[in-house]
Amino acid sequence: MTTRKGIILAGGTGSRLWPITQGVSKQLMPVYDKPMIYYPLSVLMLAGIREIAMITTPDDQAQFQRLLGDGSQWGIALEWIVQPKPEGLAQAYVLAEDFLAENPSAMVLGDNIFYGHGLPERMARADTRGGGTVFGYRVSDPERYGVVGFASDGTVNEIVEKPDAPPSNYAVTGLYFLDETAPERARAVQPSARGELEIADLLESYRHDGALNVELMGRGYAWLDTGTHASLLDAGNFVRTLQDRQGTQVGCPEEIAFENGWLSVEGLRARADLYAKTGYGAYLRGLVRS
Ligand code: TTP
Repeated sequence: MTTRKGIILAGGTGSRLWPITQGVSKQLMPVYDKPMIYYPLSVLMLAGIREIAMITTPDDQAQFQRLLGDGSQWGIALEWIVQPKPEGLAQAYVLAEDFLAENPSAMVLGDNIFYGHGLPERMARADTRGGGTVFGYRVSDPERYGVVGFASDGTVNEIVEKPDAPPSNYAVTGLYFLDETAPERARAVQPSARGELEIADLLESYRHDGALNVELMGRGYAWLDTGTHASLLDAGNFVRTLQDRQGTQVGCPEEIAFENGWLSVEGLRARADLYAKTGYGAYLRGLVRS
């Protein structure tokens, strides 16, 4: 039996956030009350994925390990992989080939935040499908992203990186459900002019074989990018607004683990005690009682 495994790609340079990220990884920056990495991690956990490889730069790995440990506090297992240089998103599949061991995967970029009703159902659909699935999100400025082009029957006919004339308004987000052939396909990708193994080229390999699907995230979803000072602040404000207004947490691994039955009441209580001095701890205590 195959099990879909997770990858979180959390290396990179973060140069658009310098000087802040000259000392600390971008994915450890706060997004309101939690480290950025909690949000993509929560997405994989919402997809029911328990075995996850964390890919970081060599320098940052120890800090991530201090924060996340081996994942057992959430009933998941984290494996640690280093990306020596930021040589592209598709390189993740080459680095994670042994970890994936012929299993399908879901990869999320460590700086992507997703929020919206129905996301678990969309990921469940992608999970049962073969081939590859990307998630398209409508944006006003598609020329800044990888963009999906559609044929008249609604299938994907191209993925173009930062096009001058975008074929649609749907950007490809940083969440990819790919089958077990991804590492082999990634190994065949040639470095681009900027010296990276481009995810667009890996996706093109699936599209060429008629195996690329797209799930569109419509109105009511938030896909936030945290790569610049302004977008990082906006993401923090967004999370704060939602949490304060609704009294629920965005990106809380304990809550998802508890809902999934991976964390016992005692385990949840221990986490609540650890964070006793914070609103986060009070929220976890509320989950214990409810
Ligand atoms: P980017 O935002 O494209 O790059 P970056 O994070 O290095 O930032 P900047 O452009 O400001 O220098 O990366 C998107 C995500 O993918 C981010 O979470 C970092 C990660 N990443 C890697 O882990 N390895 C890589 O080789 C690349 C290109 C990105």
